[in-house]
Amino acid sequence: MLQVSDLTVGYHRDTPVLREACLDLTDVAVHAIVGPNGAGKTTLLHTLAGHLRPTPGVVLCDGRDVTGWRPHQAARVGVALAPQGRRLWPSLTVAEHLTIAQPTRQRPGSAFSIDELLQVFPALTGRLHHHGHQLSGGEQQMLTIARALRTAPRLLLADEPTEGLAPTVAHQVTAVLRQLPQRGVTVLVTVPHVRAAAALTDTVHVLTTGHLSRPVDASDGQAERLLRDHLTLTSPSAE
Ligand SMILES: Nc1ncnc2c1ncn2[C@@H]1O[C@H](COP(=O)(O)OP(=O)(O)O)[C@@H](O)[C@H]1O
Ligand SMILES: [Mg+2]
Repeated sequence: MLQVSDLTVGYHRDTPVLREACLDLTDVAVHAIVGPNGAGKTTLLHTLAGHLRPTPGVVLCDGRDVTGWRPHQAARVGVALAPQGRRLWPSLTVAEHLTIAQPTRQRPGSAFSIDELLQVFPALTGRLHHHGHQLSGGEQQMLTIARALRTAPRLLLADEPTEGLAPTVAHQVTAVLRQLPQRGVTVLVTVPHVRAAAALTDTVHVLTTGHLSRPVDASDGQAERLLRDHLTLTSPSAE
């Protein structure tokens, strides 16, 4: 649904975090981005969700120029962010989180019902009346994704959804994300390493200090090589 070209964005005018990034999210599929800490993964996702304004760059949504759109405009056409660090409301229960996340009015028919979300994440069923801060890290992550799915997204931006999770829980979350294209949801996910990307999709973009690669095969070593080359270039011993 989104096509991004030559996107440059940052927090200070003279020091862009991302430079001339190009990304094609027209396939209803899982698209993965892997890159070291500080490379700009969160910055990219926040830009697509309308929290940051690219200067310059072009973002097309269904062929329409939406560069610089605001979060409510992105949400209205079906872009949902499951943020890094989960950002739940500590004082709200699981049920309240799922109730206040309303489907966008334009796509009511494709919304996940709360019952469906509990089938997707059975671990939340017994936790409906617990507050955000009472949940385990895995349950918090499941709720973060469930809350985003409740809004009937066409594009789910999942920022480090397996960060800090035990391997079995990370595996469950990965399995859910992998299935979403079958429900018509495109996923853009950031992951910590190529192995995690390969569990989700065949191709991966490598993001290294502001430069986003074209999609490369996640399993043939090419992505690993791009990351390793970057680390060699930036490590102190290389100077
Ligand atoms: N709110 C902010 N203000 C200023 N700089 C920021 C802000 N958020 C992130 N940065 C900087 O932007 C760069 C990319 O950060 P980020 O997008 O969070 O990377 P990643 O998600 O890949 O770890 C880092 O150098 C980080 O310090
Ligand atoms: Mg990040």
